[in-house]
Amino acid sequence: MTHAPVETAPLDLREHLARLEARGLLTRIDEPVNKDTQLHPLVRWQFTGGLPESARRAFMFTNVHGADGRKFDSPVVVGALAASPAIYACGMGVEVSDIGDVWNRGIASPIAPTLIDNPPCREVVITGEDLRKPGGGLASLPIPVSTPGFDSAPYLTATLCVTKDPETGVRNMGTYRAGLKATDRLCVRMATRLTGAGGYVHWLKYKELGQPMPIAIVVGAAPVIQYTGPQKLAIDLDEMAVAGGLAGASLRVCKALTVDLEIPADAELVVEGFIDTELVEPEGPFGESHGYIALEEFNMSMRVTAITHRKNPVICSIVSQVTPSESSVMKKVAYEPLYLTHLKKTLNVKGLVGVVMHEPLSNLRPIIFLQFARNSIQTEVWRGLQGASTLQAQCGKIVIAVTDDVDPRNADAVFWSMAYRSNPVDDLLVVPYRSRSHGPKTDGGSANSTLLIDATAKNPMPPLALPAREYMEEARVLWEKIGLPRLSPQAPWHGAHLGDWGDSWQSFAEAATRGEWERTGEITYQRRRSDVAPETPVRRVEKN
Ligand SMILES: Cc1cc2nc3c(=O)[nH]c(=O)nc-3n(C[C@H](O)[C@H](O)[C@H](O)COP(=O)(O)O)c2cc1C
Repeated sequence: MTHAPVETAPLDLREHLARLEARGLLTRIDEPVNKDTQLHPLVRWQFTGGLPESARRAFMFTNVHGADGRKFDSPVVVGALAASPAIYACGMGVEVSDIGDVWNRGIASPIAPTLIDNPPCREVVITGEDLRKPGGGLASLPIPVSTPGFDSAPYLTATLCVTKDPETGVRNMGTYRAGLKATDRLCVRMATRLTGAGGYVHWLKYKELGQPMPIAIVVGAAPVIQYTGPQKLAIDLDEMAVAGGLAGASLRVCKALTVDLEIPADAELVVEGFIDTELVEPEGPFGESHGYIALEEFNMSMRVTAITHRKNPVICSIVSQVTPSESSVMKKVAYEPLYLTHLKKTLNVKGLVGVVMHEPLSNLRPIIFLQFARNSIQTEVWRGLQGASTLQAQCGKIVIAVTDDVDPRNADAVFWSMAYRSNPVDDLLVVPYRSRSHGPKTDGGSANSTLLIDATAKNPMPPLALPAREYMEEARVLWEKIGLPRLSPQAPWHGAHLGDWGDSWQSFAEAATRGEWERTGEITYQRRRSDVAPETPVRRVEKN
């Protein structure tokens, strides 16, 4: 199904959900669903059930209850931000093909937000004893368990954790998980590794000052704002302004109620409070985006000072864990254009035409493919490989370059390219001293390394041995006319020239398709000779 392009980005989650529904991209589930055991597993099936990416939908659950039988008025949405690139594009108000350009524009031309009073995100305010009473505070919200059977608690996953640098006042908004601990307490996990979470850098500064860190966890802001959370932006770049750049408009912020922070004014839900900088608290286990369960570790303990929300807030949750997932789609569509722009515009790598991050199971970061035009210069291929492996500490542990007739989304095609187009002794390099990146912490070792492979075609190759395109297309018409089972062509599905061919072979092939092979036989009969061994290439002794 094709849809008319939407010209502007939706400026709040509700507008986005309405657009998704109008485009047939949202499925309402009115059946009673248990948020602690059924909700995430149901959505998970669309990533593990063999559906094509285009069949994935946002799910809106309107009849949610907890494992204890408690019913919730608020709906829960999962997959609404990025179950598929089409859903993500809808959140940006653009076509899928324009996502990369819009990211480049948003980062290059941020638009500062506008401060307003009486924001929608404060239609309902929960403070004081209401935060602490049994079933109150966080327990009054339908926050789901993401990985039932392994996770230690319900978690907020679609977060924007807003913090501020105590020295510079620069704001950071990162997507970090936050596990429920009490009706007024959460535990937030901010990555402490090099180039980890921006919020962690702020936490260290508050710790140095001997003060708790003010934080506001925002859930259900406009998609353009939510999308800045997982994006890798420069530490001093304000995500709200980048979101404005993505939307092409100044977005609304308001002052938080109990902490000195500015937050997206049209969000569905805001959890305000302070993070302890003295004591850390055990957090997890929780299913991580690298595809393993993160085991219990000490993380940031947050005391809630206020929960504010819109009336009947829509609680947004993200499917993460094993990839593909909503989390990996969100990162893929944002990271790939950043890499392509960096390699092409900043490093000026010649011949590069595409960057693809490997999504199934490996979670994007470790494996990156580069596509090069045929006849690219070998040293440029290697500059590309090195640039892709060094842009970010956590991305590009394995980088493989292929020629652009190979689709890196098909791992079989990449193996095919490595099998016939690379010679490991010449085309493979292992570089030591890579930092350990996002992954299970029990895999041992303190440092990692990088594997670079040039699997591009270095020389002209004979044509791909499938019938030429015109014959495959003609045969497909016949196939369909006969009523044989529906086809979904898998590349490569037709033969193609790869640089090594000759005019006489072309004329033989054309003669064969006209049924004139006996004429060819007469020609080759004349060319018989006695001075060569079998398997001697004809062109070694004859001019073609
Ligand atoms: C669904 C989802 C959950 C995430 N959870 C965490 C997390 O718990 N902790 C963390 O440090 N990063 C997490 N990330 C990755 C960060 O959002 C990402 O590294 C981002 O760049 C952080 O922003 P920052 O650079 O401003 O810290 C998550 C990403 C997604 C999409």
